[in-house]
Amino acid sequence: MKNFIKILPLLFLLIGFSKNSNSAEKVEYLKTDWSFKGLFGKFDRGALQRGYQVYTEVCASCHSMKYLSYRNLAEEGGPEFSVAEAKAIAASFEVNDGPNDDGEMFTRPGKLSDKFVMPYDNVKAAQAANGGAYPPDMSVLVKARGGGVDYIYSLLQGYEDPPAGITLDDGVYYNKYMYGNKIKMPNQLSDGLVVYADGTEASVEQMSKDVTTFLMWSAEPHLESRHKMGFKAIVYLIILTILVYFSMKRIWSRIETKV
Ligand code: HEC
Repeated sequence: MKNFIKILPLLFLLIGFSKNSNSAEKVEYLKTDWSFKGLFGKFDRGALQRGYQVYTEVCASCHSMKYLSYRNLAEEGGPEFSVAEAKAIAASFEVNDGPNDDGEMFTRPGKLSDKFVMPYDNVKAAQAANGGAYPPDMSVLVKARGGGVDYIYSLLQGYEDPPAGITLDDGVYYNKYMYGNKIKMPNQLSDGLVVYADGTEASVEQMSKDVTTFLMWSAEPHLESRHKMGFKAIVYLIILTILVYFSMKRIWSRIETKV
């Protein structure tokens, strides 16, 4: 038993390593409880559905999410809208298709297999509409930014008047958390901006949290099954450790130790 106690710290270390560890950050980001963090982390379905609502009603006019299809909205581990709901969502968008038999392009209502429609035809058009800045595709943005979810959550709430002495050009805004503090995206959120389908109060904080949760899922759609696997692996390792320990005891029991 004593030996077993000796290896306990090792086990804890193992569990510790399996958690997402954040490296030291220069700016202190705003903190919130993320349901998906940690070994048993899961997405909050409500947050994912509300986050989709914020994305589509607010962010989608500038930011694309080109890796998502409407059917992903109904898949396990995601927002888990019902298939009927996802179909209705898809059908609410106009998708370019074609050419038809006459050789012409046409638009039709979206289907589950369609990718999320893009707000702009190309990068140049996006830049032209946004003062030269490109609103990055958001499919995997959480992974592309150092602070991940905490960064995006903070950025959305980080708009302030610039401190004395700092002047901003037209179309440039001051944000506490943006690299260099200058961002070409105007503040997007204000209390009550969306009316949540589930009745949750749409405070700036709530919308920031929900949309960031949604972005986390789009960047890591298999997070839940990965966590499940990780947990199984640890249980397996613990059982293996116990087995190895007892077989070691047994093998060495035939040898008398003299100290
Ligand atoms: C009016 C257009 C517009 C809307 C709407 C919009 N954005 Fe942006 N966003 C931009 C532009 C332009 C940039 C690039 C800013 C820059 O590079 O200075 C940007 C950049 C960003 C960035 C990256 C910042 C970085 O580190 O480079 C994030 C994150 C972001 N937007 C999140 C959102 C979210 C979330 C929403 C919806 C709540 C949203 N945006 C809505 C135009 C928009």
